[in-house]
Amino acid sequence: MAVLDIVTYPNKILKEISRPVERFDKDLHKLLDDMYETMLVKNGVGLAAIQVAVPIRALLIDIGDEEGKQSKDTLIEVINPEFLEWSGTQKDKEGCLSVPDYFDEVERYEKVKVKFFDRFGKEHIMDADGLLSVAFQHETDHLDGHLFVERLDYIKRKKFEKEWKKLLKKRKK
Ligand code: CO
Repeated sequence: MAVLDIVTYPNKILKEISRPVERFDKDLHKLLDDMYETMLVKNGVGLAAIQVAVPIRALLIDIGDEEGKQSKDTLIEVINPEFLEWSGTQKDKEGCLSVPDYFDEVERYEKVKVKFFDRFGKEHIMDADGLLSVAFQHETDHLDGHLFVERLDYIKRKKFEKEWKKLLKKRKK
């Protein structure tokens, strides 16, 4: 397994619309394995393939167990996801490995029903609420070229742009 480079904002790659996965083959499995390694090393709870510059509709979610401990048992591999139902709203702090060190509250649906495929092409339907629901929505946004900071209201977005410039400067030092 290998740790991959993560593409960060404002790289234009993140705006690409990812294409559906058609082959559930060894190459896909290797990518998913490398993505998992990368996500754990970077302390993420989700990672979409486009964040490692591969524009396919594949993503990982691992929000961990009750104590937040991540493992292969709590990992969900999500290919070609599609929302079937959604309801309610919730507001929670989100972060993103492509927008490192910035966190802010985003409004999302409270509950979602998602259809997706696993790495072997088997179909799954899952009901999610709370953090898991947020993760599905956040990661699926990546597949359509969107970042959570685009969902901030005008004032918060301005605040983000300002803070982001500062963070970039700091990182260059
Ligand atoms: Co993200």
